[in-house]
Amino acid sequence: MNVMIHVADSSHLQHAQAICDLIFVSAQARGTGIAKRTPEYIEEKMNTGKAVIALDGDKLVGFAYIETWGHKKFVANSGLIVHPEYRGMGIAKKIKRRIFDLSKKLYPDSKIFSITTGLAVMKMNSDLGFKPVTFSELTDDKEFWKGCQTCRNFDILQRNDYKMCLCTGLLYDPAQQEPPATPPKPFAGKIVKPIAKKRNSNKTPKKK
Ligand SMILES: CC(C)(COP(=O)(O)OP(=O)(O)OC[C@H]1O[C@@H](n2cnc3c(N)ncnc32)[C@H](O)[C@@H]1OP(=O)(O)O)[C@@H](O)C(=O)NCCC(=O)NCCS
Repeated sequence: MNVMIHVADSSHLQHAQAICDLIFVSAQARGTGIAKRTPEYIEEKMNTGKAVIALDGDKLVGFAYIETWGHKKFVANSGLIVHPEYRGMGIAKKIKRRIFDLSKKLYPDSKIFSITTGLAVMKMNSDLGFKPVTFSELTDDKEFWKGCQTCRNFDILQRNDYKMCLCTGLLYDPAQQEPPATPPKPFAGKIVKPIAKKRNSNKTPKKK
């Protein structure tokens, strides 16, 4: 097994249909909702360098992609999938890290977000600095929320006026991140030896 993670390009188009099938079958198995993707949509992501693919030789192992919303004010990391035979080996973590780094490189000023019902994604995003938020903090771009139409929980989202649903919103705001700590300057002064405290010999020893 030799799994490699790549930024996807036109050489990976042959995997688009398998990616859609994997996303669909996995959502069915989990019994949760998912936004359906078409092969054309996945191909467009590959052609524009906005996706990450994991391959074991020629075999599809995993995938994730980037989408921008609200005039690039928000970037969503979506469609994370790992082939069942390769789960539990840290591959999703690697894909997540790569798509996160790619998002920051392509859109350094954008807020990055995901919505999920999955514990694994919540864990991975938290490790990357994402914070759980209500939907009010995410994009209000109608096109994003339209993607939820194919989710089995869409009626819940609609009923709540697009303000809450079963997914948790996770947000990474570059403006809220701590600046990297400046390394301490090399010491340039004199080393002063600490003066050892003299014991007070007048003190009477404590009675036992
Ligand atoms: C979710 C999914 C991508 C995880 O892939 P994976 O390669 O098995 O995940 P990793 O091995 O990299 O594990 C990453 C972390 O998630 C945890 N994790 C993985 N699967 C988990 C699960 N089913 N439940 C809870 N935690 C899980 C791991 O313990 C690990 O956490 P740690 O670093 O604290 O140990 C994969 O199970 C999958 O494709 N599922 C179906 C599609 C899906 O749910 N996509 C997310 C849509 S939002």
